[in-house]
Amino acid sequence: MLFPDYRPRRMRQNDAFRRMIRETALTADDLILPLFAIGGKNIRNPIASMPGHFQLSVDNLVKTARDAHQLGVPAVILFGVPDRKDPLATSAYADDGIVQRATRTLKDALPDLAVITDVCLCQYTDHGHCGCVEDGCIDNDASLDLIARTALSHAKAGADMVAPSDMMDGRVAEIREALDENNFSHVPIMAYSAKYCSAYYGPFRAAADSAPKFGDRRTYQMDPANALEAIREVTLDVEEGADIIMVKPALPYLDIIYRVRQEFDLPVAAYNVSGEFSMIKAAEQMGWLDGPRVMMETLTAIKRAGADMILTYFAVDAARLLGTK
Ligand code: PBG
Ligand code: ZN
Repeated sequence: MLFPDYRPRRMRQNDAFRRMIRETALTADDLILPLFAIGGKNIRNPIASMPGHFQLSVDNLVKTARDAHQLGVPAVILFGVPDRKDPLATSAYADDGIVQRATRTLKDALPDLAVITDVCLCQYTDHGHCGCVEDGCIDNDASLDLIARTALSHAKAGADMVAPSDMMDGRVAEIREALDENNFSHVPIMAYSAKYCSAYYGPFRAAADSAPKFGDRRTYQMDPANALEAIREVTLDVEEGADIIMVKPALPYLDIIYRVRQEFDLPVAAYNVSGEFSMIKAAEQMGWLDGPRVMMETLTAIKRAGADMILTYFAVDAARLLGTK
């Protein structure tokens, strides 16, 4: 059917028609809020490049998580800012580590809020890499044990789901095995499967104090130029037992989200990362963009591309806007 028989504007002429033919619906159910946990009491350190976000001590973390949950956000993902770092990231898998303490407190206060924990070593290693370093190189297989120990200690603290973000080869299988051997076969793994080596992580690294002290992450995170390789990465994680597969970042990688959605039948998560958030906030503060509208357009686009859920620093703002509609 061509013009003048088909007139697309016919179905756009009023709000009712537009709602009836809308293909993508964003809801608070789709959103996961990232939170930064730090030691101490009543701490609320603003993150300069991420307006509205803070490093929060556990008491304040509960308040923010409660607000998000009341607005309909079903889950948070926790990142730890530890008080000590060493070459083997020992505070990542310590029973009294920051993520472990935050998880216990959150589950105690808000049992119905799903607590996902980010599993990585970079905030906890003195060199800032996501694995352990041997002779200036990241030792893949030596890192696996530490990563699995970290995931297990999160599960022991009550994490509902673990999310490895390190990009070491073989870590999903190692984590699955450690969980299963310790009666945590019910704990799912959200795998950061296609995680790119992206400059959009800048604000996060300042927030989590996790920038590498030497070199970069190119030997483990993916080259932004590659798409077929993303399929191979996701295939590995699926074979190793991932329950949810993630593409990260989101907006510059919508094509990857789309391809992963077409190729696999597992739930797909997309991480709308710190730099994507900061760009919109900065433009809003300059008066250059309508912040709330760009936020909703962005989240809708990520969902339209094929994401079933979105990890986003906009979770609270978006849930609030969605609730008023
Ligand atoms: C570290 C990690 C990073 C993010 C989540 N986990 C950054 C990195 O790889 O350096 C980025 C999140 C964001 O930018 O919002 N494993
Ligand atoms: Zn890391």
